[in-house]
Amino acid sequence: MSSSNSPKVKVGVLGATGTVGQRFILQLSSHPNFELVALGASSASAGKRYIDAVAGRWKQVHPVPENVRDLVVQACEVDAFRQCGVVFSGLDSGPAGPVEEAFRAANLRVFSNAKNYRMDPLCPLIVPLVNTDHLDIIPHQRASLSPPIDQGYIVTNANCSTTGVVVVLKALENAFGPLDKVLVTTLQAISGGGYPGVSSMDIVDNVVPLISGEEGKIETETLKILGGLTSDKKAFDNHASGPLAVSAHCNRVPVIDGHLATVSVSFAKKPAPSPEEIVKALRAYRCEAQELGCHSAPEFAITVHDEPDRPQPRLDRDWQNGAGVNVGRIRECPVLDIKFVSLVNNVMLGAATSSVLNAEVALKKGYL
Ligand SMILES: NC(=O)c1ccc[n+]([C@@H]2O[C@H](COP(=O)([O-])OP(=O)(O)OC[C@H]3O[C@@H](n4cnc5c(N)ncnc54)[C@H](OP(=O)(O)O)[C@@H]3O)[C@@H](O)[C@H]2O)c1
Repeated sequence: MSSSNSPKVKVGVLGATGTVGQRFILQLSSHPNFELVALGASSASAGKRYIDAVAGRWKQVHPVPENVRDLVVQACEVDAFRQCGVVFSGLDSGPAGPVEEAFRAANLRVFSNAKNYRMDPLCPLIVPLVNTDHLDIIPHQRASLSPPIDQGYIVTNANCSTTGVVVVLKALENAFGPLDKVLVTTLQAISGGGYPGVSSMDIVDNVVPLISGEEGKIETETLKILGGLTSDKKAFDNHASGPLAVSAHCNRVPVIDGHLATVSVSFAKKPAPSPEEIVKALRAYRCEAQELGCHSAPEFAITVHDEPDRPQPRLDRDWQNGAGVNVGRIRECPVLDIKFVSLVNNVMLGAATSSVLNAEVALKKGYL
């Protein structure tokens, strides 16, 4: 277990200049457990001071932190990051596969936002408000590599739209037993596609009813996250305990940050809980990151809004610094059992906050 007096763990960020990378910079530049010492990006940015590498591309309300401005961006190669106890990755999926694997092979600990290792049978896929117990596969991951390693690993966090829904599904399963069917329709922000993302000519005055690969991610990642670890802690059961079926429709909408989802669910056990019981259960939901007192954990994992027209991306995405999930409009569904609206800040809990919080939990549990 770490204590507040422990020295800070040196950390690096891969993809530090991108949409997710910039959020990492803001979260890590003054963190009680982590000291940001190394930044990586593509060859176009390598060799530049961070402030120069992001010139014209820094899209945050806050300025580039003083202690980060002059750090020189490196190529994403192991040697520049050997001093790091943790490496956070906001890399595009193209470079993420080989780079993250090389970092792990060099005995570094990688917390990744990229899709590459999410469904790998040795890598945990962790939404920090849901399944931090999956960290316990780490010893088996290390032992299974060839050659085996004693410190490094890859831990992934989920697709941003999966994250906004699965926290609520976990709270429902905890309170009312297995779910049977889940139907999700997303309205996803432009920032989810990175910078510069979809062209303004395509998204202003429009909705794009396709986000390539996104629906499959929600449908498969949800089962791994809600499932358990086998008793020997060597495999994920991918929700083998129940017949959960998930169907997703994904749409890109003209919102900058914040993925909204409309969700209908049915429960295995009948009669299904009432909307009032669900409100109570969601408000009572707590997770391990909160119990451990992690710095980035929200006070409320799920905020249930009473107003009939909330949550809304512009009004609710920054509540609790975007670290929790917002839910509203909980009501009976005439086709399945219950329906509701959920909102996640895709660049915070949907990306950088999840990685940072996963690392905070790993620190508290002795995996750093
Ligand atoms: N945006 C979201 O809401 C969100 C949410 C969850 C997960 N993710 C995932 O997070 C990752 C990053 O997404 P993003 O939205 O931040 O993308 P982005 O804005 O396009 O940033 C990509 C980053 O990767 C770097 N990069 C690109 N090619 C590289 C290469 N060959 N070698 C080394 N670095 C390279 C870029 O550096 P340069 O600036 O030098 O080009 C930049 O720092 C993706 O895997 C994405 O799927 C994103």
